[in-house]
Amino acid sequence: MFRTRDLIRDTVKRITPYSPGKDSAEVMRELSITEVTKLASNENPLGPSPMAIEAMQAAVSQVHLYPDPQCTELTAALARHLQVLPDCIVVGRGSDEVISMLGLAFVNPGDEILFSQYPFALYPLTAWMTDAVGVEVPARGFDHDLEAMAAAISPRTRLIFICNPCNPTGTILTNAQVADFMKRVPDHVVVVFDEAYFEYVDDPDFVDALTYVRQGRRVAVLRTFSKVYALAGLRIGYGICSKPVADALKLVRPPFNVNSVAQVGAVASLGDPQQLRNAQEMVAEGKTYLYQQFEQMGLEFVPTQANFILFDSTRGSREVFDALMRQGVTVRTGDIWGLNTWIRVTIGTAEQNRRFVEALKQTLAG
Ligand SMILES: Cc1ncc(COP(=O)(O)O)c(C=O)c1O
Repeated sequence: MFRTRDLIRDTVKRITPYSPGKDSAEVMRELSITEVTKLASNENPLGPSPMAIEAMQAAVSQVHLYPDPQCTELTAALARHLQVLPDCIVVGRGSDEVISMLGLAFVNPGDEILFSQYPFALYPLTAWMTDAVGVEVPARGFDHDLEAMAAAISPRTRLIFICNPCNPTGTILTNAQVADFMKRVPDHVVVVFDEAYFEYVDDPDFVDALTYVRQGRRVAVLRTFSKVYALAGLRIGYGICSKPVADALKLVRPPFNVNSVAQVGAVASLGDPQQLRNAQEMVAEGKTYLYQQFEQMGLEFVPTQANFILFDSTRGSREVFDALMRQGVTVRTGDIWGLNTWIRVTIGTAEQNRRFVEALKQTLAG
């Protein structure tokens, strides 16, 4: 008699389940509190554009119809916005789904997928799901070591994930660093620039990865409406790829993968630069405040180009997580990346940041 577990593919048995940030409703139930300061998943607490909300409300009355499988309007709007050809764009149910499509389209069992130490969870997961070998290249400090990543490319390498800005460290790669690296990437490899936090970057040396798309290199640049545009609950993200890469992804894209409300919300969001600026300003101010607070507390942190900060709490990260949660604040523990005393905190509104700092001071004093 087989147990269900015996029937599961061997590679799937090895998967460590993805652990999402603690759900606010669950925390409120457990602690019998009415409000949680959720700084665990790098969301934008200011919420979506009012224009997007209005457009989505109107779209709800049409949800008896299947969505546009090609995301035609959104693709055209993105192409205009980014100055790329519409054929280069592939929209997914979150950029997560574009990552899965990359695995399905390009990776055979036994191939290798390269990523840096402290990876976003979906990179090793893609390796597991495709029976590939995930090759984690040690970071240099908290930065990608592109020299070591180039040296780790083998004849079996198919995908290289470059998380830029990197989640969880908030560090970035510059144009010059990436230009040197790209010279060393052979043409049997697709390079994926995961730019989920792109809109928060204020460093002028940040790499312009779309250059490689325009040059026709085998690349995919991933962006999302989940973060700065505050549509995480709708699940919509996209890849900007050189055309042959985009064509390959379209072969494995599930039909009707992106719902109609999300498509409408995304188009309207692109037309509201004020919503974007509000979030960018909130994060810039919050960053300055949190840096000051960490400095005053004598806590080491990694300077960030995203809407989160990784800092060393100097205590066990689980212990600090629990203590903060009891005070109604949720964050991410660093132990999932082997950073056992580190915490990743999302930069929130001024009020959320202040609550977090109070709770942290209380925790470290205890
Ligand atoms: C680095 C990175 N890539 C991709 C994603 C996926 O974003 P989504 O699937 O919501 O577009 C996230 C979300 O946390 C992320 O941090």
